[in-house]
Amino acid sequence: MALRLVILGRQGSGKGTQCARLVDHYGCIHISTGDMLRAAREEGTELGRTAGEIMDRGDLVPDDVMIGIVGERLAKADIMENGVLLDGFPRTPDQADALEDILEDQGFRLDVAVNLDVPVDEVMTRMLARGREDDTPEAIERRLSLYEEQTEPLIDWFEGHGLLEVVDGLGTEDEVFARVRVVVDERLAYGY
Ligand code: AP5
Ligand code: MG
Repeated sequence: MALRLVILGRQGSGKGTQCARLVDHYGCIHISTGDMLRAAREEGTELGRTAGEIMDRGDLVPDDVMIGIVGERLAKADIMENGVLLDGFPRTPDQADALEDILEDQGFRLDVAVNLDVPVDEVMTRMLARGREDDTPEAIERRLSLYEEQTEPLIDWFEGHGLLEVVDGLGTEDEVFARVRVVVDERLAYGY
């Protein structure tokens, strides 16, 4: 069956890391909006140039831009057939509303949203060790404070829609993956 899953979590909580394993296991297609924006920057498109500046500041790209990009991608045949694992989208309640509408128009709905729970001091350590282009101390701080402000209401959104599962994101990558599989498999089995 084609899974439609959202992975949430603070910056550096391990979303991308777990997504690589989840797509192997469940056969759905991984969409990382951060990866899409970084690819656009590499290609030097107009979107890439605008988004690049925003990302370097640690700010969020405007909702209408993100909704347009993701909506286009979700309509492609591979995702319609195999399902999707959304990483980094939605990031605001408005993006979540838009996602719900897009899926409904396609005759689908989300199965579950997994929130990887990792404390701030640990994500700081992980990101500084990783050293991506936007992993400067200033941008990390800005991303984390925006997360608490804008993205935390998302957790309430998913909870209100009965879709939220919180998973402890501390421990080895294998340990976290095993925990995520348990909650996803339960959702798929019981569909609550
Ligand atoms: P995005 O690329 O989504 O970045 P992010 O939210 O900052 O999240 P990260 O990718 O940094 O963290 P991750 O959770 O994937 O962790 P990872 O697996 O790498 O977005 C970048 C920017 O794009 C945003 O700031 C924004 O400007 C823009 N953007 C994107 N989507 C948007 C949207 N929808 N709306 C508006 N703007 C948007 O892990 C981190 C590190 O920890 C790695 O080094 C990893 O090896 C390590 N690690 C992972 N798991 C473990 C473990 N269990 N133990 C120890 N280390 C671990
Ligand atoms: Mg990531």
